[in-house]
Amino acid sequence: MIEAVREIAHARGIAKDHVHFELFEAHEAEAGDKPFEVEISSTGQVFTIPPGKSIIEVLEEEGVDLIYDCQRGDCGICQTTVLSGIPDHRDVILTDDERAANDVMQICVSRAKSDRLVLDL
Ligand code: FES
Repeated sequence: MIEAVREIAHARGIAKDHVHFELFEAHEAEAGDKPFEVEISSTGQVFTIPPGKSIIEVLEEEGVDLIYDCQRGDCGICQTTVLSGIPDHRDVILTDDERAANDVMQICVSRAKSDRLVLDL
């Protein structure tokens, strides 16, 4: 419903990112989610992110120190630079132009369309 309101606002000349909203539950796994790899650029470590787990969950389990807050894709605190690969954006804060650029992602909810993401961590 939030996205529908944002689309209607956009159609009437109001930028989507000017529509204020709040989320109260985390994004759920989607049918067809597949595992993908995340490479940490600073160490070269590679981790597999299975369906049903977020990048943050897997990296934290492996001892990677991260900064995050909402884990719903609506605060932007976990935004991470993507050095290569194609994110599957599932947040609600990036603009359409930011999504199309594919150079940042919210690692609490977003996944990958490519087999591997290299993140600036
Ligand atoms: S922790 Fe809030 S957007 Fe990721």
